[in-house]
Amino acid sequence: MPDMDPVSDRTDVAPDGSPLEFYRRLPAMGEPELIHSLVPAGASILDLGCGPGRIAGPLARLGHRVTGVDNGAAMIRSLPAEVEGIVGDAATIRLGRRFDAVLMASHLVDDPDAGPAFARTAAAHVARDGVVIGESYPREWDPEAGVGRTSRLGDAEITLLWVRRDGDLITTEVRYGVDGNFWTQAFTARLLDESALRALLDEAGLVLGGWLGRSGWFVAGPR
Ligand SMILES: C[S@@+](CC[C@H](N)C(=O)[O-])C[C@H]1O[C@@H](n2cnc3c(N)ncnc32)[C@H](O)[C@@H]1O
Repeated sequence: MPDMDPVSDRTDVAPDGSPLEFYRRLPAMGEPELIHSLVPAGASILDLGCGPGRIAGPLARLGHRVTGVDNGAAMIRSLPAEVEGIVGDAATIRLGRRFDAVLMASHLVDDPDAGPAFARTAAAHVARDGVVIGESYPREWDPEAGVGRTSRLGDAEITLLWVRRDGDLITTEVRYGVDGNFWTQAFTARLLDESALRALLDEAGLVLGGWLGRSGWFVAGPR
């Protein structure tokens, strides 16, 4: 992860370079329904790296009590009113509360630097009988095959500009577009096979429960 402010008040992008407008306009693509199917009615849910609530908003509308944490203050300001928003670093935040479910969507676990700390935050906030639901890059992900290709998702579009591979590390730069406005973001992700994911979760005090019927998504619980 590049050097960055742990918390930023920039209005257009979060500290990690995620563009607010892109994530405001990117539609949910079945994630809220998947999570809804895994938790009890009216569950308390903590969404780490919630952005402007692409997943958190629909979950709240499905009747859950949702808290979102993001270190982009503008992301938190854009959350729908029914989501409790907290500006903070998901690697270190400790709310002193436990939740029926903790979400680590958006490949947080694949961050080569902060991934283990995100998992520790999830472990510190999941209830004894709760679940951690995470999204990792599928091992079979072949980003080189997608270089130069633009995918359109609702009002948003995304193009992979280039990819560099170094062992299990993938560095890439993506271009996001909405309404003719563009942002680029470069990042590095670590591709985790199942044993690497198990080890990362174990170090955080979590046990991998299994894979969900959606590529890269997994469920874990407290040890
Ligand atoms: C790729 S966006 C996805 C947002 C949302 N999860 C979604 O699926 O639409 C990643 C989000 O994680 C947030 N994020 C990245 N690192 C973070 C950190 N250390 N603490 C809190 N939020 C973080 C970014 O600000 C951004 O809003």
